[in-house]
Amino acid sequence: MILVKLGGSVITDKSQYQALRQEVLVRLCEEISDSGEDVIIVHGAGSFGHIMAHDHCLADGYKYESQVNALATVSRDVRQLNLMVLDAMLSAGISPVSLPPSACVVMHDREITEIDFDRIRSYIKLGISPVMFGDVALDESQGFSICSGDQIMEALARELVPERVIFVSDIDGIMDRDPSEPGANLIECVKPSDMDHMKFHVRVKDVTGGIKKKLIAMIGMVGPGRTCIIINGNVPGRLKAALRGDEVIGTKVELD
Ligand code: IPE
Repeated sequence: MILVKLGGSVITDKSQYQALRQEVLVRLCEEISDSGEDVIIVHGAGSFGHIMAHDHCLADGYKYESQVNALATVSRDVRQLNLMVLDAMLSAGISPVSLPPSACVVMHDREITEIDFDRIRSYIKLGISPVMFGDVALDESQGFSICSGDQIMEALARELVPERVIFVSDIDGIMDRDPSEPGANLIECVKPSDMDHMKFHVRVKDVTGGIKKKLIAMIGMVGPGRTCIIINGNVPGRLKAALRGDEVIGTKVELD
């Protein structure tokens, strides 16, 4: 079983409220189907979640009343994106079932403390691909919080021990400087000891921590015999190759 995150930056246009990248989503689902591998899918919220969550400080928990309506709206918006992901998976011949974190995750001080793993395992046994996504969630210490797809990936990788963990992004991998700067080069491999001297850049309205937090999460997912890789989903064929375990352009995260 392979754990795949479809990043919000590849399936949506993160700079525009609720902009789906339909063609890319459809192709990625076809690549998953063609690979013949069993997958658990986690997808990001992209512009269906980050913009409003940022504007109403939802990651900070309950602070003022109007956040409640914003929380409800974000929860509705990410479900809308989730339905579009399910549609694309179904059309590609995959059988997905959605497990929304707002209903099956509990957090404490912004960290996941509970996920219904038994339910996930039961769906896998039936040949179903569980689908989770970046969402709002209950938080025991601050009322509510944002549960990012990366946090879900970490929890699932720890508990379900997948063969491989793949992050599908909109860039080739981790670059040695801002990817929009000329001369930015791909870092093919990152180890925990590299983290101290790496520079990180901030992208548009990302309420869940950007690339640094992603790398820390990825480091937590590597284990003996388990690779964790970030690839560019905009390039046709890379996801399929990564799913099959073929050599592919990307950034691998390995232990020191
Ligand atoms: C964010 O999830 C969740 C919300 C803002 C509601 P992610 O952090 O996993 O989303 P992407 O992949 O960055 O878009």
